[in-house]
Amino acid sequence: MKLIYERSQEGRRASGLPSNDLPVPEVPDELRRERLPRLPEVAEPELVRHFSNLSTRTFGVDTGFYPLGSCTMKHNPRVNERVVNLPGFKDLHPLQEEEGAQGALELMWRLQEILAEVAGLPAVSLQPAAGSQGELTGLLLMRAYFADRGEAEARRKVVIPDTAHGTNPASVTMAGYEVTPVQTDPRGNIDVEDLRTKVDEHTAGLMLTNPSTLGLFDENIEEIAAIFHGVGALMYYDGANLNAVCGISRPGDMGFDIVHFNLHKTFSQPHGGGGPGGGPIAVRQRLEPFLPVPAIAHDGETFRLDYDRPKTIGKVRGFCGPFGVFVRSYAYIRSFGPGLREMSETAVLNANYLLARLKDAYELPFDRLCMHEFVLSARTLKRNHGVTALDVAKRLMDYDFHPPTVYFPLIVPEALMIEPTETEPKETLDDFVEAMLEIVQDAAERPEAIKEAPHGRPVGRVDEVKAAKRAVVRYLFEDHPDLSAEPTEARELEAQKGA
Ligand SMILES: Cc1ncc(COP(=O)(O)O)c(C=O)c1O
Repeated sequence: MKLIYERSQEGRRASGLPSNDLPVPEVPDELRRERLPRLPEVAEPELVRHFSNLSTRTFGVDTGFYPLGSCTMKHNPRVNERVVNLPGFKDLHPLQEEEGAQGALELMWRLQEILAEVAGLPAVSLQPAAGSQGELTGLLLMRAYFADRGEAEARRKVVIPDTAHGTNPASVTMAGYEVTPVQTDPRGNIDVEDLRTKVDEHTAGLMLTNPSTLGLFDENIEEIAAIFHGVGALMYYDGANLNAVCGISRPGDMGFDIVHFNLHKTFSQPHGGGGPGGGPIAVRQRLEPFLPVPAIAHDGETFRLDYDRPKTIGKVRGFCGPFGVFVRSYAYIRSFGPGLREMSETAVLNANYLLARLKDAYELPFDRLCMHEFVLSARTLKRNHGVTALDVAKRLMDYDFHPPTVYFPLIVPEALMIEPTETEPKETLDDFVEAMLEIVQDAAERPEAIKEAPHGRPVGRVDEVKAAKRAVVRYLFEDHPDLSAEPTEARELEAQKGA
């Protein structure tokens, strides 16, 4: 397919504007461009066809089943788009004075209240714009809390299990802490014996996803909380997997002190490709003074922005946070009425149904009831037929399914991490099972069909190292260096794996 620049013909336009007789604005010399921007020049039909064709070459949750583990790619109900596009929400200026924005403030306040209830923690800030930003915010709160107690220097370590998502150690490092890794035991829980040797008076806290990235609920969570609280450390809950437990168990009741939500996963916000997202945090009372400002306050009659937090860590995002995400999340939550529990129960049921039908055909590293997702291994397929997790993922594209997450968590060799979500019907799950079982059969009988997959896709197998390290994301005009021509050092790097 040609790039839009390759279609460009000098002088062609998609539309014309009438000439005007307005005065030419004064632009200081140093701010003037020296030459016109090099934009593609195409007529409207070509423009429309170009982007329409491009849109058919991609895959989204609207075009097929998308069981990408840990990413919770659920259906985004269209009613959410209707409400977010109501003029009172869509056209609201972020600097609108409070009296004229009571509806928006009320929605944010109500969302805060619901999130506090789901987390089992009393104070919420909606500001962070992604799970990872929620993590960083939570860790900055941890730091502010210990600094306030005069313990900032003494507490330098944050414990993270070896199943953790990559953003956890990254956030810990960005927040100025040191990562202390802890192992997973044979049942898929944190290894409590290993943990005891890692936690002491220099520990600031634990960072844990529960259920973990293995899709397993930690059976020792109360004991773990006691170990951390026993040395005065805090417990941080990475809420990326909250879809499994809403209305069933609450991080605050498990002993966690700080929680982030991934609104875009748990409460259906179109996401992928970097956004938009929402990563609110909920905390225990003793951490509330440090939360970002403004908070959304309600005095019984009106709603207002509250900046009165002298110990705040400050702002982490412009204005009040990603408002459109709040509206969609609120709409999704309300569509379940008081039955948010039903959402999680269906997600867990769907995952266990898939697991039960697939566990004899693939290796199952931790044979337990799973939560909203589970991790299989393609290790036996690789050993017996040379078919890897990547091959299985590519072959699934031939069946019009998005591949699951592969090679993550890192402790499972040839990992396939599958998350169906609550919005898929049984028929789709059955079709997926049939495809997965056929792949196992083909691995034995005609492995080349799998190794050459995907067939008939606009893009087959890419050089992953080059795609990750030398991505060419703009048109290479004649005066730009040809980056694709110098891959040598990149090729030596190991392919990027994981979610
Ligand atoms: C377990 C876990 N933690 C944290 C994150 C980071 O969330 P976000 O992508 O919203 O920054 C993810 C994202 O996939 C995740 O799966």
